[in-house]
Amino acid sequence: MSTNKLSHIPKTIVLVGLMGAGKTCIGKRLARRLGLPFVDADDEIEKAANCSIDDIFELYGEAAFRDGERRVIARLLNGPVHVLATGGGAFVNDATRAQVKETAISIWIRADIELLLSRTGRRNNRPLLKNTDPRKKLETLIAERYPAYEQADIVIESGNEFPDVTVDQTLDTLQDLLLSLNHSIAGVPR
Ligand code: S3P
Repeated sequence: MSTNKLSHIPKTIVLVGLMGAGKTCIGKRLARRLGLPFVDADDEIEKAANCSIDDIFELYGEAAFRDGERRVIARLLNGPVHVLATGGGAFVNDATRAQVKETAISIWIRADIELLLSRTGRRNNRPLLKNTDPRKKLETLIAERYPAYEQADIVIESGNEFPDVTVDQTLDTLQDLLLSLNHSIAGVPR
């Protein structure tokens, strides 16, 4: 196994997709393999607001959360190259999506609804899935958001396989994309 660290990922890699798709899990591993820092946008929003996402929704409402989310992601995209996991609604915002398209490589981590339900059901920390029928809500979000997610540069299916299998597949697809852009990620440890 090569121990070379990749030094030429040209742009920040942004993971998008619904709650429970595995953006954070895949993003952390991807960052490690690429030798890049990992940032979770939701954590950054909580730090900036000094408040949990639950509390932001509760105290200030979803619109205020979305505004903070857009600003935090804009700041991160202006910073050094990293792997960024975004919250499920981020890429639906026109300004955020345009900035991602211009400055980063976007990867849609896509999972089927049964997997999304089982993963999001493990923790009660998503305001949009509280006090509602989670299946119905996820179906609505799928209908509303997939047209935006489909605009990502890369689509990766995430199922029940080990996360590293998904990461391998992501690296291969990323490599193809970067090669087509005249870059190479050969040397990434596998
Ligand atoms: C949201 C997804 C959450 C978080 C917030 C809103 C959404 O992030 O940003 O609860 O609108 O889908 P995850 O996708 O990481 O769960």
